[in-house]
Amino acid sequence: MAFNSRREYWGSKLGFVLAAAGSAVGLGNIWKFPYVTGSNGGAAFVLIYVIFVLILGLPIMIAEFVIGRHTEKDPVGAFKLMAGRSPWTIVGYMGVLSGFLILSFYSIVGGWTIGYIIKSISGSVTSLQDSSSAKSLFAAFTADPVQMILYHALFMLSCMFIVVYGIKNGIERWNKILMPLLFGILFVLIGRSLMMEGAWHGLSFFLKPDFSKINAEFLIAAMGQAFFSLSLGMGAMITYGSYLSPNEKILTSAFYIVVLDTLVAILAGLAIFPAVFAMNMSPQEGVGLIFHIIPVIFSNMPYGAFFSVLFFTLLFIAALTSGVSLLEVITAYVIDEMGWARRRAVVVFGTVIFILGIPSALSFGASDAMKLWGNLTFFDLIDKLTTNYMLPLGGFLIAVYLGWKYGLEKTIHELDPDTRIISLKELWAFFIKFISPVLVFILFLMLLRNDIIGQ
Ligand code: PHE
Repeated sequence: MAFNSRREYWGSKLGFVLAAAGSAVGLGNIWKFPYVTGSNGGAAFVLIYVIFVLILGLPIMIAEFVIGRHTEKDPVGAFKLMAGRSPWTIVGYMGVLSGFLILSFYSIVGGWTIGYIIKSISGSVTSLQDSSSAKSLFAAFTADPVQMILYHALFMLSCMFIVVYGIKNGIERWNKILMPLLFGILFVLIGRSLMMEGAWHGLSFFLKPDFSKINAEFLIAAMGQAFFSLSLGMGAMITYGSYLSPNEKILTSAFYIVVLDTLVAILAGLAIFPAVFAMNMSPQEGVGLIFHIIPVIFSNMPYGAFFSVLFFTLLFIAALTSGVSLLEVITAYVIDEMGWARRRAVVVFGTVIFILGIPSALSFGASDAMKLWGNLTFFDLIDKLTTNYMLPLGGFLIAVYLGWKYGLEKTIHELDPDTRIISLKELWAFFIKFISPVLVFILFLMLLRNDIIGQ
C-alpha cells in the first residue's frame, strides 16, 4: 500500500529478527515466566504456555507484521489507513495506551535489575546465607522511595537514549550486540545451576507435567503470559513490522522470533528451578522469586559476585531491549501522526512515562497510598489491567479486524512468496480467522467470569 520511500528500513534481516526478538525477550521471560510457572505448579503450565504460544502467539504475531508492513505505519496510523474513520482506530489508540502503561511499571522492575547489578558489585547481595535475609534485603530495597525512583529514572533514561538514535543506529545496532550475549550468559547460569546438589527435583518440577493443576485461572495466566512475553496485542510488532523492507519474509521471521522467545523462557526456567529446589526454597515466591533466590545461590558459590553481576546484567539487557520497543511504539505514533521530531518525542513522552511510573515505584512499601484494596497495589493493578485485559483484547481485535473486516485477500501477498509454502499461508489464514480469536474469546469469558463472578 502506501509505499513510503523516505521510511527507514531495518539494515538487514538479522537486524530485524534480533530487534523483534529483543522486544519479545525481556523481563517477561526471565522474571515473570519463572514466577508465574512456579505459582502455577510447573511443567503442565509450561506445556500449555507453549501450546498457546503456537496457536495464539504465532498467528497474531504474523498478523501484526502483516499490518505493519502493509501500512508502513505506527499502530494508530495503520488502523486509520485501513479502517478510515471507523471505530476500529481505537485498536491503535489502545495499543499506544498499553505501551504507556506497560512501560510505566516495566521500568520499575528494569530499575531493580540496575540496583542489583550495583549491589552485586558492592557485595551486599552476595554475602547472604539464607532466603530470609535475601527477602528482607529485597523488601528494604523496594520500600526505599529514593532508590526506587532513582533506578526507575535510570532505566527510562537508558531506553530513551537508545530510542533517540532511531531504528538502524539505535535499536538495531544494540540488539545485534546484546542478544547473542544474553544467550551466552544464560548457558553459563544453567551449567552452574545444574551442577548443584538436588538440582534434579527442580528439573522434574519444570519438565514433568501434573495435569491435575489445570484450571481457569491457570489457563488465563498462560494466555496473558503468551501475549506479554511475545509483545503482542498492542502494536509493538506492528511498529517493528512497519520498518520491514518489502522483500523480507514475514512467516520465517515470525517463526524464528517465537522460537527464540520460547527458548529463552525455557532456558531461564532451566537456570532457576534446579537452583530453587537444590536450595530447598519454594517456587511460589511471586514477584520477588528471582530476587529472593538468585542472590542466595550466588552467595554460596565460588565467584558468586562475578556470576551475580553477569546475571543481573543479563536481566537488564533483556529488559532494556523490550523497554525500547515499548517506547518506540509511542515515539513512532508521535512522529507519524503528530509530525514531531524523534528527539522531542522521546524526551517529552519518556518523561511522561517516568512520571506515570512513580506510583508503581512506590507500590512496594514506600507509600501506603499505593495499596489500593486487599493486597493489590497500583503496580499490580497496571500489570493485571494490561497483561490480562488490554493485550488479549488488542490481539483479539487485531485478528478479527484482519481476518473478517479488512479481508485477508488484500494482505496475504505480504507473506513469504515461495509457492511451496502456499499451504502455510492458508494455515495462517485459518488460524487468524477461526482458531486464535475464538480461543482468546473463550479464555476472555473465563477471565471475566473468574474476576467478576468468581470472587
Ligand atoms: N515481551 C516483553 C517481555 O517479555 C514485554 C513487552 C510486552 C514488550 C509488550 C513490548 C510489548 O519482557
